[in-house]
Amino acid sequence: MKDIFTAPFVEEMRKTTANMYRLGWDERNGGNISWMLDAAEVGEYLDLNRVIRTIPMGFDASAVTGKIFIVTGTGKYFKNVDADPENNLGIVRIAADGRTAELLWGFRDGGKFTSEFPAHLMSHIARLSVDPGNRVVMHCHPTYTLAMNYVHELNEKKLTHTLWEMCTECIVVFPDGVGVLPWMLCGTNAIGEATAEKMKEFRLVVWGMHGIYGVGKTMDEAFGLIETVEKAAQIYMLTAHLPRINTIQDHELVELAELWGLDYRKDFLNL
Ligand code: 13P
Ligand code: ZN
Repeated sequence: MKDIFTAPFVEEMRKTTANMYRLGWDERNGGNISWMLDAAEVGEYLDLNRVIRTIPMGFDASAVTGKIFIVTGTGKYFKNVDADPENNLGIVRIAADGRTAELLWGFRDGGKFTSEFPAHLMSHIARLSVDPGNRVVMHCHPTYTLAMNYVHELNEKKLTHTLWEMCTECIVVFPDGVGVLPWMLCGTNAIGEATAEKMKEFRLVVWGMHGIYGVGKTMDEAFGLIETVEKAAQIYMLTAHLPRINTIQDHELVELAELWGLDYRKDFLNL
């Protein structure tokens, strides 16, 4: 059996959480990541027949029964993952009943998966139904995206349009736009269901006055989506109070989309 601490998926979780912490997206225990792993790969590092303990989930995830996820722990600080992955991360398999998680590694101090596990697993299920390659769900509290929530309408068309105008690359990176939920109570099945509904249409979902979700086939894809929104939100917050002299025109956004052959949200433009 190989050493789990050398597993690429543990290493990538360590690197990504540290990076997100340093970007200021994950203060204290803010943010969470879940990543669906390949069982054969995990089997090189862990005895898949050895369940440390079972943890009730309080929602139905039968669509991903048997699937294995590495996930950040509730109340755990991204700042601390790199130094102590076994305490701050866990590897769980969804049990046959679809409502219980089998702990295979981690959460050493008796902890458990993020309180946003409903939103994560429901989002995985929703994304897998439209993109069978999806593996990663990432949530965080990026500063400028959050600041923008207080001064910009929380409307999918208007928010996406403003973000697209802020950097030339935006429409290329997220031609599918950004879904938006109003402020909702977090950590609940209800916000999980609402997020998953949006995830059928979007790879990015803003939780009003809370943060953002990004998903993807890889950690880079999920991270890159959030990073690009955050950059655009930063430009917006640096300029929103100043007279706008120049802007990227909608016909230029169309040119970009056509050059890249993108399937983009034409209805989010004002043509
Ligand atoms: P957890 O510590 O439970 O992951 O919660 C952090 C968070 O960002 C809640 O939305
Ligand atoms: Zn949060």
